[in-house]
Amino acid sequence: MIELRSARESDLDFLVELRNEPESVRYSKRGALRREEIARDFLGRPGKRAFVATRGGTRVGYAVLQALGRGVGEISVALAPAFRGRGLARPLIARASAVALVDLGFRCIRAEIDPRNTRSRRSFVGTGYRRARGLEVAARLLCYEVTSAWLRSDVARAPARGPARRPPGPPPPD
Ligand SMILES: CC(C)(COP(=O)(O)OP(=O)(O)OC[C@H]1O[C@@H](n2cnc3c(N)ncnc32)[C@H](O)[C@@H]1OP(=O)(O)O)[C@@H](O)C(=O)NCCC(=O)NCCS
Repeated sequence: MIELRSARESDLDFLVELRNEPESVRYSKRGALRREEIARDFLGRPGKRAFVATRGGTRVGYAVLQALGRGVGEISVALAPAFRGRGLARPLIARASAVALVDLGFRCIRAEIDPRNTRSRRSFVGTGYRRARGLEVAARLLCYEVTSAWLRSDVARAPARGPARRPPGPPPPD
């Protein structure tokens, strides 16, 4: 079961290490960030909320939700390398999306994903996100989204556990 709680000052070492881990940097819009930038970005920016994902009390990842205006939010997630490939990505995305749509009151959540980031694309599509072609401003990134209607889907209503694993496959259909 994945739990989310607001990130706090004592999580900073964990957040910095995960945010600047090579895979996260490779697929991020801004590359590696300095510790002060991460502190400001994750812990002190109005309109941006960072959550630490835990499992049985252990920190396994984070989810960041940023207000883009007009009830739209942007989501970004990461799992610590030791917790990848264990079926936690979809529960993490589902939990964070529910927090965004229910607790934070967004009507729509978007994820901008590097096309090469197959694991992320599959995880978001598997959680119910759909491609939003009209919103893609930069050709370099693909945009996926869910609206509050997603809350009625089976994925959203399932407990936030890891799904049964399927073998890696090709990139998801757009
Ligand atoms: C993105 C991330 C959260 C995904 O979590 P993960 O545990 O690595 O993902 P999984 O191992 O569950 O793989 C996700 C999907 O990709 C598939 N997959 C894994 N490796 C693959 C590969 N080499 N080729 C094709 N598909 C692959 C899995 O089968 C799974 O598919 P499914 O959901 O349809 O069953 C994690 O890799 C991460 O933190 N990456 C760095 C940060 C990042 O890129 N964040 C996303 C930015 S929004």
